[in-house]
Amino acid sequence: MIIQDRMRVTGQQEIAKNIFEMKLTGKLVGEISSPGQFVHIRVSDSFEPLLRRPISIASIDKEKNEMTIIYRAEGRGTTMLSLKREDEEVDVLGPLGNGFPVNATASGETAILIGGGIGVPPLYELSKQLTANGVKCIHIFGFQTSDVSFYEEEFTRLGETYIATVDGSKGTEGFVTDVMKKIGDEFSTYYSCGPMPMLNAVQTTYAGKKGFLSFEQRMGCGIGACFACVCQTTEGTEKPYVKVCSDGPVFLAGVVSI
Ligand code: FES
Repeated sequence: MIIQDRMRVTGQQEIAKNIFEMKLTGKLVGEISSPGQFVHIRVSDSFEPLLRRPISIASIDKEKNEMTIIYRAEGRGTTMLSLKREDEEVDVLGPLGNGFPVNATASGETAILIGGGIGVPPLYELSKQLTANGVKCIHIFGFQTSDVSFYEEEFTRLGETYIATVDGSKGTEGFVTDVMKKIGDEFSTYYSCGPMPMLNAVQTTYAGKKGFLSFEQRMGCGIGACFACVCQTTEGTEKPYVKVCSDGPVFLAGVVSI
């Protein structure tokens, strides 16, 4: 169920250049049903900035009633969010959208998780849940430079982890596709989250494989009411368009036209 919750900040730290990890506690955590869902955060009680910011959920701890979000402080809203300190409250709407299908990969099978930049965070909870189910996870992440890369250690604890940076300052110089080509396609499912050009390249490279893509789209309402996040679907799909916020953000590869 989607709820509006005043969540309490239990932690906030900058984990890479302008990339923040924030921990929040509140009853909303009990409503999260799958990795890849996101929340819509209103950063200020005054009218400005009025719009909420969609931010994906990176980790869920139901026992502690706590979730972790990771976001880039770039505009006014997210910069204001980065200034929140422990015990302050944040107005959070969520959980929103349909996340990654964890059960699409069976125990003993291998899954490849490919993320780009701020598309990496939702893959962390996904990897935790897949690994707990006995799935072998291989992670491939792309960042612009080493100073905006994060969570390498956390992912390495769960499985093999490869990094590509555009400038070569960490891992392979180039893009996630350069690493993908080296690894081959001996796996059963791929899951990916990142900017459109990356999703397009991933989908093309793994054509014919079972995959799920999570889209980063501009959003307004976040709950399927405003049409700000509409994407066209490919020919032969049931509906001519989908709303990323409420039909997605995760779709079976091949459904959304990119
Ligand atoms: Fe309003 Fe998706 S953001 S319909």
